[in-house]
Amino acid sequence: MDTLISLVNRIQRACTLLGDHGADHASASLWESLPSVAVVGGQSSGKSSVLESIVGRDFLPRGSGIVTRRPLVLQLHRIEEGLQDYAEFLHLPKKRFTDFSMVRKEIEDETNRMTGKSNQISPVPIHLSIYSPNVVNLTLIDLPGLTKIAVEGQPESIVQDIENLIHSYVDKPNCLILAITPANQDVATSDAVKVSRQVDPAGERTFGVLTKIDLMDRGTNALDVLEGRSYRLRNPWVGIVNRSQEDINRKVDMIAARQREREFFTSNSDYAHLASKMGSEYLARILSKHLESVIRARIPAIASFINRSIDDLEAELAHLGRPVSVDAGAQLYTILELCRAFDRVFKEHLDGGRPGGDR
Ligand code: GDP
Ligand code: NA
Ligand code: MG
Repeated sequence: MDTLISLVNRIQRACTLLGDHGADHASASLWESLPSVAVVGGQSSGKSSVLESIVGRDFLPRGSGIVTRRPLVLQLHRIEEGLQDYAEFLHLPKKRFTDFSMVRKEIEDETNRMTGKSNQISPVPIHLSIYSPNVVNLTLIDLPGLTKIAVEGQPESIVQDIENLIHSYVDKPNCLILAITPANQDVATSDAVKVSRQVDPAGERTFGVLTKIDLMDRGTNALDVLEGRSYRLRNPWVGIVNRSQEDINRKVDMIAARQREREFFTSNSDYAHLASKMGSEYLARILSKHLESVIRARIPAIASFINRSIDDLEAELAHLGRPVSVDAGAQLYTILELCRAFDRVFKEHLDGGRPGGDR
């Protein structure tokens, strides 16, 4: 199934390139037929931290206040064991980042290029790919946090702007929602749960993620949420312990942080019985599994869509026959090739599947 998800990743990147060159209708509808995972929650609930721990790398701007000001579309690609991790931005083709502190800096710079060094947000996404032996193939979207009031340098409309931006991702039925909720707040007041309830009332595509469990008041625990008594979702809540701001300042590394997170759950008598289903590594695994099953279930629908797209793309290419832009033509070819590859893989999976489906 790895091949299928990595094809999804490649098609998503091709779509973005195509979108940049005006072939919007084909790319937009193809994009919408592919699954993704969006991170939703209030400001400073730990969204960027959760993404970092899923990736197992330090590379996102984090901190108090509004740090994430543009959507970040993050594609994780698993590469062979022993190879070195690297990152690439779509807006900087051919530049390989192996120093992840430079990735963080480039995200900050590229955010500022669009918004200035203000507290403004922009809906224009930054596309980043990370290649690593330590990730599962997954597309994740980091989003600005929901907020209740405008701060210095922000227009009054910012509260609604952020909400609209988040909805532009999570309204799509094939977008999985990571609902990030800090454990030191009442789950009933969770911004993430509120959004999820609006767009996914049955909780079918929402994963509840409870952060900051280490910051709960002494004598309290998160079992009501983690065991589904506070707010029940189809998929069980996953508890997370990210690095604190102090850890970040002290440069506690990711391996140490994951180790500590594991120990937190296994050594705490409240959580020991749930320990195997807690933590960022577990979250990454269930997300990838879920994504695979979503893709598998949608194979027939996507396959027929791809077949239509191939026809559309061929027509579009024929139409481009006159020398428009070499780039646009080349990219249409790329996406056409990808569609064909997609089609082949789908057919193999269909043929390989038992008649009547095996779900
Ligand atoms: P975002 O605004 O939702 O993206 O949140 P960030 O990931 O930037 O985190 C906001 C702040 O909360 C940072 O200082 C993090 O170090 C801290 N933080 C996030 N998750 C946890 C957690 O599980 N435990 C602790 N102690 N601090 C956390
Ligand atoms: Na923040
Ligand atoms: Mg953030």
